[in-house]
Amino acid sequence: MTVRKRWSAALVTGATDGIGRAVAHRLAGMVDTLLVHGRGARSVMDLAAALAPAHPGTTIIPLKADLCSMAEIHYMINRVCTAVDQLDIVVNNAGTAGIYPRTVTRDGNEATLQVNYLAPVMITAGLFDLLCLAEHGRVVNVTCDSYRNAKLRWHDLSLEQRYHPMTAYAQSKLAVVLHTQGLADRLSASSCDAVCVNPGNADTKLHRRAFGWHAESVTGAVDNVLYAITAPLDGTGFYFNRKELTTPAVELFRPHVQRHLDRVTAGLLSTRLPWLERVHVHLPRSTAS
Ligand SMILES: NC(=O)c1ccc[n+]([C@@H]2O[C@H](COP(=O)([O-])OP(=O)(O)OC[C@H]3O[C@@H](n4cnc5c(N)ncnc54)[C@H](OP(=O)(O)O)[C@@H]3O)[C@@H](O)[C@H]2O)c1
Repeated sequence: MTVRKRWSAALVTGATDGIGRAVAHRLAGMVDTLLVHGRGARSVMDLAAALAPAHPGTTIIPLKADLCSMAEIHYMINRVCTAVDQLDIVVNNAGTAGIYPRTVTRDGNEATLQVNYLAPVMITAGLFDLLCLAEHGRVVNVTCDSYRNAKLRWHDLSLEQRYHPMTAYAQSKLAVVLHTQGLADRLSASSCDAVCVNPGNADTKLHRRAFGWHAESVTGAVDNVLYAITAPLDGTGFYFNRKELTTPAVELFRPHVQRHLDRVTAGLLSTRLPWLERVHVHLPRSTAS
């Protein structure tokens, strides 16, 4: 990806706190339109009000959606589709520590799985056409290296039988990594790409809830996410472990496992995953006649 000084439009989810909030502040000066998502109407309006005066050249669009609600996610997707005609960057950053006690959303999914995995896949699916219309669209899924300790409980993804918040968190992040690899493969011949990033430890609400101790400030993690947004890909991987581009060497990362995850995910979301059916190859204006 060519590093550009200014993009047309970008979306950051979970922009009201922690890493996402700082990423939104950094990106605001680099895009014409910045869409910032938050769970609460008040918090996302406050964020927009804080960003706008510092970036008069950027249109800030606040979006409210509780990712525990697929109805709210669909509403947000529709709002994005009416607000912009292309999207250069989608940063699926919103995330929760494993929720305790185990909670099931109105959509019937274990809540950690829905917020951390199903929601970003739905958002990417709903905005896929807009990404394909950008000169070079990129999906950045924020994950966590705790995925290394996880396995996917195929027969019990919602962990009804044996629940632990850390298991739920790690499984959701493994699903993100596996999904991103499949998406990156599918997009390899297109004008879009997909990466995930482990930002590293940062002292946030999520970190304190998940691990119970204070980490370093968010600055390094934000740099790592910004790097994942802007860094060129050289074909050696799709996973930024902080700033190191790698391909995770996990036995699970095999095509038939990805296909299975796609099928299960499409079923849970009751939707088709557009990248499995078609990939638009968009020619930059300079080369299109
Ligand atoms: N901090 C770390 O050490 C660390 C390490 C590895 C990976 N990560 C990843 O980094 C990402 C950002 O986390 P963070 O550490 O910055 O945590 P954070 O400060 O708790 O921020 C999380 C963001 O996600 C939003 N969110 C949570 N649940 C939501 C829901 N149901 N609906 C809508 N939005 C929701 C939060 O909104 P509210 O403000 O309303 O809660 C907040 O804006 C996550 O994906 C996390 O897994 C973090």
